[in-house]
Amino acid sequence: MAPTIAKPLLSDLVAQIGQVPLSHVRPVGDRPDLANVDNESGAGIPLIDLKKLNGPQRREVVEAIGRACGSDGFFMVTNHGIPAGVVEGMLRVAREFFHMPESERLKCYSDDPKKAIRLSTSFNVRTEKVSNWRDFLRLHCYPLESFIEQWPSNPPSFREVVGTYATEARALALRLLEAISESLGLERSHMVAAMGRQAQHMAVNYYPPCPQPELTYGLPGHKDPNAITLLLQDGVSGLQVQRDGRWVAVNPVPNALVINIGDQLQALSNDRYKSVLHRVIVNSESERISVPTFYCPSPDAVIAPAGALVDDAHPLAYRPFTYQEYYDEFWNMGLQSASCLDRFRPG
Ligand code: OGA
Ligand code: NI
Repeated sequence: MAPTIAKPLLSDLVAQIGQVPLSHVRPVGDRPDLANVDNESGAGIPLIDLKKLNGPQRREVVEAIGRACGSDGFFMVTNHGIPAGVVEGMLRVAREFFHMPESERLKCYSDDPKKAIRLSTSFNVRTEKVSNWRDFLRLHCYPLESFIEQWPSNPPSFREVVGTYATEARALALRLLEAISESLGLERSHMVAAMGRQAQHMAVNYYPPCPQPELTYGLPGHKDPNAITLLLQDGVSGLQVQRDGRWVAVNPVPNALVINIGDQLQALSNDRYKSVLHRVIVNSESERISVPTFYCPSPDAVIAPAGALVDDAHPLAYRPFTYQEYYDEFWNMGLQSASCLDRFRPG
């Protein structure tokens, strides 16, 4: 009989348990089927060099981004402008955080999705039936000065290192949102303006080694509810995206970040660009750390497809909604492959 978990966090338990506890075992038929995954050589998704984004060849880069957003919903970027030292610092401090004693980490614990700063486990333990093999720290990051004082103060360099990364990540998100607006034939500022005062959340995901990766997920298939996600991953594979009904491994590429379209850009683009299903699988050998930056509208921003993208061939795909309305629905639904967006179709 598999043991049950009494403690909230995963990380300290795995060393003692040779089996996945029942709380984390997926029902047969809802397991990763690890043998049935496309493991392409290379990234598995388009790889775009941003070096020429600010030069005479901008148009080519913008078009490559547009193609990737319309076909895969995912791409990787190199020469993205975030200094290597900042990226390394972020991953180092993330590892240090999750390697601190459990008593220290638990000071930040909460299972309330409404809290701006919290350490938690799985996805939403209040609503889900089976837990996921993930602990995560969630931080609101923008405006930085409104939140940084509430961030963990341990490890001692946490606030400085993570604050620097968050600021750099925001600058990259804004550059990408401009390029994405342009690729749709809109004003460069369109997407950012549509997001109101904007918000930025970060997750620091910690996936400990798992004794039976075939029984559970790091994160089951889901689409991101925000506008755009910038994912920093360490050198360990685990992310997979869906393409033509098959799962494709997104293998880490040194110095590259993974970018994906979230539900809000799908809505704002009137379905031209796709928020795509993705999932995380775990492995028995190594821990994995990933740091997604979720760039999002402010809660009161009213999201509606760009007027210029609505015509006879592309009828209005969504009714207007506030991001708050959408976000509440997302956390209540739990992670599932049915898109939350379908609940916001017109009439
Ligand atoms: C997420 C996510 C991917 C990863 O946190 O929404 O999809 O590789 N993470 O951790
Ligand atoms: Ni995601």
